[in-house]
Amino acid sequence: MRRLEGKNVLVTGGSTGIGRATAIRFADEGANVAINYYTSETEAEITLEEARTTCNIIRGKGCGEMLVQGDVASEEDVRRIFHEILGAWGRLDILINNAGIQAASPAHETDMEAYDRVLAVNLRGAFLCAREAVRHFLDRGGGGIIINNTSVHEAIPKPYYAPYAASKAGLGALGRTLALEYAGQGIRVNTVAPGAIATPINREWLEDPEKRAEVEKHIPMGRAGEPEEVAAIFVFLASDEAAYITGQTLYVDGGLTLCADFRTPWSSGAEGQKRFSPQTVAAEPGSPPQDPGRRIHSNKLI
Ligand code: NAI
Repeated sequence: MRRLEGKNVLVTGGSTGIGRATAIRFADEGANVAINYYTSETEAEITLEEARTTCNIIRGKGCGEMLVQGDVASEEDVRRIFHEILGAWGRLDILINNAGIQAASPAHETDMEAYDRVLAVNLRGAFLCAREAVRHFLDRGGGGIIINNTSVHEAIPKPYYAPYAASKAGLGALGRTLALEYAGQGIRVNTVAPGAIATPINREWLEDPEKRAEVEKHIPMGRAGEPEEVAAIFVFLASDEAAYITGQTLYVDGGLTLCADFRTPWSSGAEGQKRFSPQTVAAEPGSPPQDPGRRIHSNKLI
């Protein structure tokens, strides 16, 4: 039994990156997927084909995959997106608010058009879609599921990306607020917060091995994540296995939010830095496995 057999799901920004992997993974779990895209119909068609192929392998026939064009920041477009989906299926079970953009500039040089657009897509767009979804869930009864895609920058500041960080922190708060407001109506609202994931939004450093190594150096697990690793968490949170989880943010980040700077006890003074630098803590070739935590404890450095 697939975990989401027969469920109807909308993935916004579903034609590329994490959204694309999520659309395909939901199809793999037996769901009907509406793939929202904004500009590139060609990319959306490719994703649709892959989701259909996945679905056909699973079910043989009767797949309900569809494309829905629209700008999530536009109230009119979002109304039309829901109208098209409900016209075709009559019902929606799961909304994945994934669409997102970013813009880089020092805060004092940021022009308000760029600021407004980031907030409009990442926060207003998610709210508009959530509002339509909740209206539908309440009308038909029986609850529903909303999952938002924020970022580690829901919690960690991101200099030069003030509108992005503000939008993602806002989206985290929005998710918790909706979760509390509608918990009594069987509507679960959760958040997935990815770290550095190999998708088109990160094209610049992904295509340059030196820049990629520089990024991955900061990640405790030592590598960027794959979109499929994020998609798996959307599926988990949408499934009955997560039936008692609402209002939570699940970080999918290879340990980024653990604050990699604290891999050594630099805040404990020079002795700690010397004794427990990565070089001294790492086991010598051929020596028995070490337990850095125990060594720190036995030296009373904590
Ligand atoms: P992406 O650029 O492939 O995906 C963003 C998607 O949103 C694209 O398909 C784009 O067409 C769509 N989109 C943009 N504006 C839209 C609008 N107005 N209406 C509808 N769709 C629109 O990059 P990625 O990484 O897959 O991003 C997906 C989400 O994941 C974003 O919300 C992003 O902030 C978030 N994220 C990504 C991380 C990463 O390292 N790749 C890390 C943390 C969060």
